Amino acid sequence: MKILVTGGTGYIGSHTAVELLSSGHEVIIVDNLYNSNIHVLDRIEKLSGIKPKFYEVDILDYDKLEEVFKENTFDAVIHFAGLKAVGESCIIPLRYYENNISGSLNLYKLMQKYGVNKIVFSSSATVYGDNYPVPFKEEYGYGDTTNPYGTTKKFNEIILSDLCKADENLSCVLLRYFNPIGSHESGILGEVPNGIPNNLVPYIAKVASGELDHLRVFGDDYDTVDGTGVRDYIHVVDLAKAHVKAIEYCTKFKGADVINVGSGKGYSVLEVLHAYEKACGKTLPYKIYPRRPGDIATCYADVEKAKRVLDFEVERDINKMCEDSYRFTVMNPNGIE
Ligand code: NAD
Ligand code: UD1
Repeated sequence: MKILVTGGTGYIGSHTAVELLSSGHEVIIVDNLYNSNIHVLDRIEKLSGIKPKFYEVDILDYDKLEEVFKENTFDAVIHFAGLKAVGESCIIPLRYYENNISGSLNLYKLMQKYGVNKIVFSSSATVYGDNYPVPFKEEYGYGDTTNPYGTTKKFNEIILSDLCKADENLSCVLLRYFNPIGSHESGILGEVPNGIPNNLVPYIAKVASGELDHLRVFGDDYDTVDGTGVRDYIHVVDLAKAHVKAIEYCTKFKGADVINVGSGKGYSVLEVLHAYEKACGKTLPYKIYPRRPGDIATCYADVEKAKRVLDFEVERDINKMCEDSYRFTVMNPNGIE
């Protein structure tokens, strides 16, 4: 298939581009490089043997985005482009609603205008909120999102579901990611957070590299195995492979379908820290801090649907996730240059 990948130079998009190209799909990337850089394209080429066609376009710019649709005939879209910093979304919510909603509406309008009727959307487990027991199942309703970022994911899911109700030819897979971590095992593709990372594993990586002196563990009084928060971590390459299956699934059904993408297992903050210590061969210092506002105790996926519908199961465990994350950190001290 010829696939438009928005946000394709970003963390998950670049890993997915490699897997799509390696599976014989054609990839055209649109990204405004707000949170990624042009050198990612060389790295995608190194890993897949193919340099994808690239447009430096902001999806908020309808006319420029339309040029991309005029110049290419797409079979499908994978829509990663978006802003994703939860804390920042509470400070500048308008920017998040504009980018993640208005930008997406431009894309959906152009898909309709140019007859592109298959899309995979990057959603998040955050749409379950704190309202349901684990494991989170797709048939649960929406929970109360606790931040504008999460609300943009929920709104996009609702918008795409409504578009499917109005257009019987549209196929839309809403992938709810749990916690993607790790890097390509080559060490040449990975996540490059801006500034001090908010997320656990990028933060631990900076402790391992000596850039930060200890991990702040947010709360040790949750009702979990050791009192620290439990999450479902998924290797980014496994997640990328799920997208290949999802885009192929789009050819087999019509309508909107929600699918969790996780490992189905939960690990506590301290369990992840210890796995990382094993991967880097060092003891990593940590201190206990108060709970982080908005955090829940435990979050992991019911993965039965992904297995049944997509024939998808993860292949990489927590040790592999930490080893690959550490390799990327060591090999790219200045990020992707
Ligand atoms: P990322 O920031 O690495 O990648 C997103 C890409 O989109 C970046 O390259 C950025 O430059 C681009 N972009 C942003 N706004 C754009 C715009 N207006 N026009 C064109 N390009 C734009 O993030 P990621 O971790 O790869 O996440 C990809 C998607 O998955 C996002 O939608 C994110 O919200 C979602 N998601 C991520 C996680 C996670 O933990 N990483 C979890 C759940 C969902
Ligand atoms: C967070 C977001 C979620 C988003 C996801 C991916 C919040 C409340 N949730 O998920 O909406 O989809 O990132 O971008 O921000 N932790 C520490 N110390 C740290 C960092 C994290 O102890 O320095 C703990 C957290 O309290 C949590 C676990 O590690 O228990 C995982 O945190 P994180 O990586 O930020 O992911 P989520 O909170 O699950």
